[in-house]
Amino acid sequence: MLVSAKDMLVKAKAGKYAVGQFNINNLEWTKAILLTAQENNSPVILGVSEGAGKYMCGFKTVADMTKAMIDELGITVPVALHLDHGSYEGAKKAIAAGFSSVMFDGSKYAIDENIEKTKEIIALANSKGISVEAEVGAIGGEEDGVVGGGEVADPDECKQIADLGVDMLAAGIGNIHGKYPANWAGLNFDVLAQIQEKTGIMPLVLHGGTGIPADMIKKAISLGVSKINVNTECQLSFADATRKYIEAGKDLEGKGFDPRKLLAPGFEAIKATVKEKMELFGSVNKA
Ligand code: 13P
Repeated sequence: MLVSAKDMLVKAKAGKYAVGQFNINNLEWTKAILLTAQENNSPVILGVSEGAGKYMCGFKTVADMTKAMIDELGITVPVALHLDHGSYEGAKKAIAAGFSSVMFDGSKYAIDENIEKTKEIIALANSKGISVEAEVGAIGGEEDGVVGGGEVADPDECKQIADLGVDMLAAGIGNIHGKYPANWAGLNFDVLAQIQEKTGIMPLVLHGGTGIPADMIKKAISLGVSKINVNTECQLSFADATRKYIEAGKDLEGKGFDPRKLLAPGFEAIKATVKEKMELFGSVNKA
């Protein structure tokens, strides 16, 4: 069964750890993340961007596949299926398709319009027990065609959006999607501390988890971050392991070309990355 992300994040905020959101792309990704969460007794959030949703034949396919997999694999840890950077229309579609959590990313709108649209999505989601993430201050970099400006959020605007009744709040603090450039200035902890002070118990979300050094992750958690999104790092681990398999000529040995064999090293690599993040975020044994 899928659950809303609300309870797991309230617990994470109180317990000073973070729940990982790992983005999924296909069956192997989903299975790898679910099994790792179960093995580590950790709550988990599966992230689905609108682009990945289209790639996997629509939100309903994703929701039905994930629910069936949870059943079939005997997964008992809390799992939320969450729309990542949803548009206004996309959030409505994901709610209708059976997602248990949605992000409405209104960061591209002026604050008043962001507030109006966020309110509508909250009303719709709450009536079905679905959690909502909102965003203030665009996250930098590019993810699935959604390009963010890399703004640093205004703590007063964060408070305005938090007060609408969202369950988690993403705020830009110098984080970006994808790999960080060599001259990256790091996370803006002063702003994070101000946001945390104004929004109190609200679980804060850190996007762009790939490549943020462990000490910055720990400091962000100590300042109220309770959900950390990781996408690119699993993609890199998967690609690296798959390349090594092929470069070693393993696909040419026996039935090494069988997709169940060809994709196995990448599958194991995703599992290792997810486990490492769960340990770093402190969510192991918090299911
Ligand atoms: P990365 O791809 O940088 O890990 O970011 C993931 C993310 O923030 C998903 O919303």
